[in-house]
Amino acid sequence: MFEGKVKTVIDKVDALRHKVDDHWQVPRVEAEVLAQIVRLGHCVSLCEIGTSYGFSTLHLAAATREAGGHVDAFDLDPKKIAAAGAHLAEAGLSATVTLHQGDARQTVRAFHPAKPYDFAFIDATKDQSDGYLDALLPHLAKVAILVTDNTATHAQELAGFVARLRALPGATGCQVPVGNGFDLTVVRRA
Ligand SMILES: C[S@@+](CC[C@H](N)C(=O)[O-])C[C@H]1O[C@@H](n2cnc3c(N)ncnc32)[C@H](O)[C@@H]1O
Repeated sequence: MFEGKVKTVIDKVDALRHKVDDHWQVPRVEAEVLAQIVRLGHCVSLCEIGTSYGFSTLHLAAATREAGGHVDAFDLDPKKIAAAGAHLAEAGLSATVTLHQGDARQTVRAFHPAKPYDFAFIDATKDQSDGYLDALLPHLAKVAILVTDNTATHAQELAGFVARLRALPGATGCQVPVGNGFDLTVVRRA
């Protein structure tokens, strides 16, 4: 899917699954499908909530860079933010990503993106998902893709959140049984 140093770093970060117990990154096939969604949607202003060591971020950034896009990536853990920054630099993707450390319920709310987000990936603490969405909603573009990870692996925990996504004005959505299973919602506002 990607070549050169981007692929080299993706391979390296993929291997963290076997080396660290707090990587919690999406399966590779899921990261690749997310990258294709970004490409298909011509998404250029991305928000990622839950960056960890940067595995999904590398895919989102490499995909949106092709369209001149940008990713705001948020994570609570300073150690992971530092590691993700090093991985993105090694992949030559630093200019495409801004890393934000802190609780995304506050940091996303307080941040003013250069362009409204046309793609958001929610992959952090599951029972905080409503808080992430509350923070995100004011920043969404008129047409925005919202991806929520783990709707198969944490189906019960996320059922109420998925119901909320379905009820958003202008929203359509479906479940995608790839990787951890994710919800794919498109919000189209008048
Ligand atoms: C499942 S991991 C993200 C994996 C990453 N998306 C990937 O696939 O490579 C979840 C991350 O969310 C972060 N996190 C948890 N609660 C958070 C919060 N309230 N605000 C920001 N980040 C949070 C954790 O530090 C952790 O790195």
